[in-house]
Amino acid sequence: MRNVLASAFLASTALAVPQKRATPVNTTTCNGKTYDYLGLAGYGFTPSNARDKFGDTAGGIGSSAVLDPSSWTLQRNGSYTGLLYGLPDRGWNTEGTLNYQPRLHKFQIVFTPANTGPAPNLQLYYLDSIRFSTSTNVPFTGLDPNLLPPYLTAADGTTLPSATYTGDGFGGNGTGGSRPSLDSEGLVIMPDGTMYVSDEYGDYIYHFAADGKLIKAIPPPQPFIPQRNGSVSFNADSPPRYDPDRETIPANPSVGRANNQGYEGLTRSPNGTYLYALTQSALIQDGGAEGGRYRRHARLVKLDLSAAQGGVPPVVAQYVVPLPVFTNNANRSAVAAQSEIKYISDTQFLVLSRDSGAGHGQDESLSRYRHADVFDITNATNVNGRQSVAPGGNLTSGIVAATYCSFLDYNVNSELAKFGLHNGGAQDDNLLNEKWESFALAPVKAKGNGQWSNWGGKSDSDNEYFLFTLSDNDFITQDGYMNGGSLPYSDESGFSLLNQVLVFRVKLPAGSSPLVD
Ligand SMILES: *[C@@H]1O[C@H](CO)[C@@H](O)[C@H](O)[C@H]1NC(C)=O
Ligand SMILES: *[C@@H]1O[C@H](CO)[C@@H](O)[C@H](O)[C@H]1NC(C)=O
Ligand SMILES: *[C@@H]1O[C@H](CO)[C@@H](O)[C@H](O)[C@H]1NC(C)=O
Ligand SMILES: *[C@@H]1O[C@H](CO)[C@@H](O)[C@H](O)[C@H]1NC(C)=O
Ligand SMILES: *[C@@H]1O[C@H](CO)[C@@H](O)[C@H](O)[C@H]1NC(C)=O
Ligand SMILES: *[C@@H]1O[C@H](CO)[C@@H](O)[C@H](O)[C@H]1NC(C)=O
Ligand SMILES: *[C@@H]1O[C@H](CO)[C@@H](O)[C@H](O)[C@H]1NC(C)=O
Ligand SMILES: *[C@@H]1O[C@H](CO)[C@@H](O)[C@H](O)[C@H]1NC(C)=O
Repeated sequence: MRNVLASAFLASTALAVPQKRATPVNTTTCNGKTYDYLGLAGYGFTPSNARDKFGDTAGGIGSSAVLDPSSWTLQRNGSYTGLLYGLPDRGWNTEGTLNYQPRLHKFQIVFTPANTGPAPNLQLYYLDSIRFSTSTNVPFTGLDPNLLPPYLTAADGTTLPSATYTGDGFGGNGTGGSRPSLDSEGLVIMPDGTMYVSDEYGDYIYHFAADGKLIKAIPPPQPFIPQRNGSVSFNADSPPRYDPDRETIPANPSVGRANNQGYEGLTRSPNGTYLYALTQSALIQDGGAEGGRYRRHARLVKLDLSAAQGGVPPVVAQYVVPLPVFTNNANRSAVAAQSEIKYISDTQFLVLSRDSGAGHGQDESLSRYRHADVFDITNATNVNGRQSVAPGGNLTSGIVAATYCSFLDYNVNSELAKFGLHNGGAQDDNLLNEKWESFALAPVKAKGNGQWSNWGGKSDSDNEYFLFTLSDNDFITQDGYMNGGSLPYSDESGFSLLNQVLVFRVKLPAGSSPLVD
């Protein structure tokens, strides 16, 4: 009996030990620092119709993600276990926005790294959800903010971009009301359990207690605040499903963040001193109005949490991040807008830049640009206080932008194929989703007995990490529920999209101290 168990253990261990990779799939050197993509090491998903404890479709769990570093454990059998937090965004919204209360989902994960399938080798077990509300228990909402003020205010008087709705805000009966709007896209969890959530509507950053109650609403610098006809206007031209023909005139702001291009990326320094937020693409006055390839000059904002006054951290710097330009499926030059950033060092960050309109559920299945890239701000000019940095999309002379370095390509079919996945080709469950929006980093651990050394890592400190990246499926399913389960829906696209998760194995530069979470 003993021997049978022992050999069973050895067999499963052997399966779990991936072989050493001779050459990285992709390598980049950015300002002298080298990054290697060592290979795809995992794939997992949650079903499109998974529901949370409130009865709602769990949806796109990956607008941003955090892996609790203290939970990350290498088990004796070669699997890792950990707690993963995933942010779905503003709810099912492909047919219009809804009065969905933005929230955070918590999962137990079990990950057994491998060089090849069978997939999935990553399991996600749903544990819990926390919904966001104000300090006085007013729920946040996924509904688009009103066109013009007045907006609600927080307990301290800070303006909260907010939506006034009729009925129940889902198209059903109700008394109507006003709620602060939140299209949550970036997540940072502090060692004390409080959370910073970045938003696309305002582009605000909200500081929430561990139970989801608002501690502080942090508005962006003045140049980011959207205006129409000279007045503050947080509306993003995303009408509610119950009033799809509602018009926003003009559709785009004249200044400030472009519609649905707010703070997509949020990260912090490991010791919690600094918070960094990055817009999805350029502000209106920096080329955002021109769109297309002109919207590449996104702004990175650095806030000093250690110098917060009354809970509001000062903006100590802003830098221009020049997003990549690629040729899209329509054969046009386009900007790969970004969806997530991750701190690697005080000067370097990972950034998730990608195309849109290509992938599972889209007309085109072939994505042309979907990367984890690197940017370096060593030489970048601090543009804090500047109203505009790139009028019409042309960088103002004298401003040095961050250095942008192309790195890890998600779409390498030879890697995807190892787990049965593909970019381009048939519209099936193994086709990568359109939207990828999050990063979580966890160290590759050495077992002490050399088990993991045969995959390249010699010890825990060998700078090798698993880079988890999650997709946002926009709650697209044929078996969906909103409004606590009372609003069944079938997405009109006819598709049901898995919430896909990929795990890349990467080697970060020697000497970096990345944010592991
Ligand atoms: C990564 O490697 C693949 C396969 O060699 C290649 O097709 C792709 O262009 C590379 N991407 C980058 C960003 O270097
Ligand atoms: C920063 O500037 C120095 C001096 O001009 C140059 O040598 C270096 O390559 C630059 N680094 C980056 C990342 O732009
Ligand atoms: C290792 O054990 C965990 C339970 O602790 C289990 O979920 C996982 O599937 C096991 N891994 C392997 C490779 O058997
Ligand atoms: C809304 O109220 C009206 C009038 O009371 C009722 O006829 C209708 O069935 C209600 N609709 C829903 C979705 O509950
Ligand atoms: C802006 O001005 C135009 C033209 O006068 C008007 O049609 C539109 O409603 C105004 N929009 C806002 C948000 O004030
Ligand atoms: C925290 O880290 C930053 C660099 O990210 C450093 O400038 C600062 O001095 C550190 N603070 C403490 C208290 O260690
Ligand atoms: C794409 O556009 C370029 C010019 O911008 C043109 O030379 C080329 O023929 C076009 N390719 C296709 C497939 O249309
Ligand atoms: C931006 O630069 C391009 C090329 O130099 C030029 O054609 C265009 O007119 C410039 N746009 C603005 C708004 O200055």
